[in-house]
Amino acid sequence: MASQEELKKIRDDIDWANLGFSYMPVKTHIRASYRNGAWNKGELLPDPTITMSIAATCLHYGQAAFEGLKAFRCKDGAVRVFRPDENANRLNLSASRLLGPAFSVEFFNDLVRRVVLDNIEYVPPYGSGGSLYIRPLYIGVGPQIGVAPSSDYDLLIMVMPVGPYYKGGMKPVRALVIEDYDRAAPLGTGTIKLGGNYGASLKPAKIAKEKGFPIPLFMDPKTHQYVDEFGTSNFFGITKKGVYATPDSPSILGSVTNKSLQQIAEDLGMKVERRHIHRNELGDFAEVGACGTAVVITPVSEIVTVEKTYFYGETCGPTLKKLYNHMTGIQYGELPDTHHWLFEI
Ligand code: PLP
Ligand code: COI
Repeated sequence: MASQEELKKIRDDIDWANLGFSYMPVKTHIRASYRNGAWNKGELLPDPTITMSIAATCLHYGQAAFEGLKAFRCKDGAVRVFRPDENANRLNLSASRLLGPAFSVEFFNDLVRRVVLDNIEYVPPYGSGGSLYIRPLYIGVGPQIGVAPSSDYDLLIMVMPVGPYYKGGMKPVRALVIEDYDRAAPLGTGTIKLGGNYGASLKPAKIAKEKGFPIPLFMDPKTHQYVDEFGTSNFFGITKKGVYATPDSPSILGSVTNKSLQQIAEDLGMKVERRHIHRNELGDFAEVGACGTAVVITPVSEIVTVEKTYFYGETCGPTLKKLYNHMTGIQYGELPDTHHWLFEI
């Protein structure tokens, strides 16, 4: 574990209270390589550029997956990462779908620990509301021109301090149901975190944004009858009977935040349902939220479909607020970490 002295380091030239969600160069990233059938132990590198073969498979054939997790400067001065094991497992799932090599959770966590520690001065201060966003990237880098998996891979992890993903933090945002595009295919790659899924979502997200909706909401790609997820986050709602309901679908990403919120909701005595949510049921919710590492919990004020507009309120509802306080309370070390979710740096 890091010493108290090491953990105290913090930059004095960053406006911590006004961080958004944008790229910021930091001291180093860490890069581990898979060559000749084995991973090396990884190296901290100051140069944020990478070079690779012009024929690398990540460039041509989409052998690229990523992750998102966060480190928090806690109330007691410690720096802790939220559930890195879950991201290690999900990245392995993505890697296996891409026919890339696996790695152990311990290997992943060691890379996370080293890169966070080397960039400790970029972890926002406790009380600022910010966190250190950790972005692992897994890419096939070997040259390959017939469509086949690479024999060489890099696992890079970059970090940067972030604030709220959407301007205004907990201010509710409007969502538009995307009727003319899907982000994933019915038996495609929606359950894993491939770069290509986000490439597919860029155009519908732009169309929604131009119409005044910061969040696109995708329906299930097979029938367009059931709610799938938002472009960068899972969907969940609190029914008028107080039930936490979230879609069960073969084309959405298994969100670590959603899984954690379901546990918190149960701990708070709420009923939790993972099930198909028909688009006609959107009117049954008292509160709707988008959840994910980047967006945390972002309340949704209204959802516009071709048939109808559903309103959930211009201020954050009480249940979303309670879940948000509980989740961030655990992350910043203000509430007990009863499920052992935090990984200490
Ligand atoms: N769904 C999509 C499409 C996402 O990009 C994300 C973000 O990672 C999520 C859901 C939320 O997942 P998590 O809570 O693991 O960050
Ligand atoms: C995250 O929440 O970590 C994401 O990856 C979402 C988005 C920024 C792509």
